[in-house]
This record gives sequence, C-alpha cells and structure tokens, in this order.
Amino acid sequence: MDLYEALYTTRAMRRVAPDPIPVEAITLMLDAAIRAPSGTNAQNWRWVVVTDKPTIAALADLYREAWRVLNETVYAGADRSANPQMQRVFNSSQWLADNFQDVPLVVMPFHRNDPSGASIYPAVWNLMLAARGQGIGTTLTTILGAFRNQQVAELVGVPLDKGWSNAAAIPCGYPLGRWGVAARRPVEEVVYVNRWGEEPGWTVPEPMWSSES
Ligand SMILES: Cc1cc2nc3c(=O)[nH]c(=O)nc-3n(C[C@H](O)[C@H](O)[C@H](O)COP(=O)(O)O)c2cc1C
Repeated sequence: MDLYEALYTTRAMRRVAPDPIPVEAITLMLDAAIRAPSGTNAQNWRWVVVTDKPTIAALADLYREAWRVLNETVYAGADRSANPQMQRVFNSSQWLADNFQDVPLVVMPFHRNDPSGASIYPAVWNLMLAARGQGIGTTLTTILGAFRNQQVAELVGVPLDKGWSNAAAIPCGYPLGRWGVAARRPVEEVVYVNRWGEEPGWTVPEPMWSSES
C-alpha cells in the first residue's frame, strides 16, 4: 500500500467483523510496532496480544464500565444533538462498547518510565498503520487504562508494582465500514509560521492525497 494512503486513511475503525486475524498479520503488526522510536531506544514496552475469547469478553465488560464512567463524568452534560460530528463519534463508540466481546483481537501496549507517552504512541501508531496496510481496522482506545487499569492488570497479569501501566487497548478486526480520508481541520487553521499566531501565506483547501491521486 502507498505510504500516503495509509497515513491519510487510517481512521478509528470501531465497527469490525468477528473473523479471526491470521497470525502472520498479527506478527507483522507487532514487528512494525517495535521498529518505532523510543527515548534513548529504551523500548520500555510490553505488548499483550489477546485473542482468547473469554479474556476479550472480560475486557468487554470492563470496557463498558469504563465507557459508562466516561459518559457520567467527562461527557456529562455534553449536548451531542447540537454537534453531528460528536454524535457520529458517540454512535460509533457506543457500537464498540456494545460489541467489544466479538472483536477478534485486542492489542494492549504497556509502558513504564514514560509519563508523557511519547515513547509508546509512535509504536502504537506504527501498529495501526501496519494493520491498515493489511486491511485490518483498529481503534486507539484509552478508557480501560484511564478507568479500569487495576482490573485490566489483574485480568492479564500485569505487574503494576514494577511500574508498568496500560497505554491503550487496540481492538482490531476486518472493517464493516469503508476506509476514507480522515476529516480534519485544514492545515492553515492549526499551523503558524516562525511565530505563534503568524498565519502561513498558503492554504491547503483539499487533502493532498485522495483515492484519485
Ligand atoms: C489518545 C486517544 C484516546 C482515544 N480513546 C478512545 C477510546 O477510549 N474509545 C474510542 O472509541 N475511541 C478512542 N479514540 C479514538 C478517537 O475518538 C478518534 O481517533 C477520533 O475521533 C478521530 O477519529 P477518525 O480518525 O475516525 O476521524 C482515542 C484516540 C486517541 C488519539
């Protein structure tokens, strides 16, 4: 796959089929992930790859609890009806919460001595891009680590006392939806040149990669 197609179209693909993912695809995703940079090349990461159905079902229960906590706290009072984009993300997120137990693969990266996450998320994104290259959809989710870190650690045996913590849970599967270019605010709205607040003298009215390019 073209590099730019992967960069432009790797989206949160929450609606995925239950079909199993071949082990060759899983190993390629992980091998690509661990090629990523980390501070001083410390590679202070461990990856728990979950394909066992009862464990995914237990993760699904924890995910639903975390999703409920998120909605009762961070998103409490959010008026989604006023914002169609927010409503779409909510609907898709709800689908994932309702169907998490049927996802065929969940990859959970753990990290330590990495408070900013700057040493784990490049590897997470490598994994997601490698998945995209094989037609596998992924979603970066963090609510399990945020709201159910202890329970996740107990479930899959993570030694929290050694400093490991959950960076993400990445449900993976073959997409039920279609790939498309990620919708984002255009470059000129979020980029300054030379100095904060200085607008660039150019615009990028359309994504610079499209399926026709
Ligand atoms: C740090 C981070 C945490 C996220 N956590 C969750 C999550 O817990 N659950 C979820 O469904 N999506 C999660 N997402 C996915 C975002 O909602 C998604 O990337 C964003 O809405 C853009 O979606 P798009 O690429 O499909 O346009 C997370 C993304 C990031 C970068």
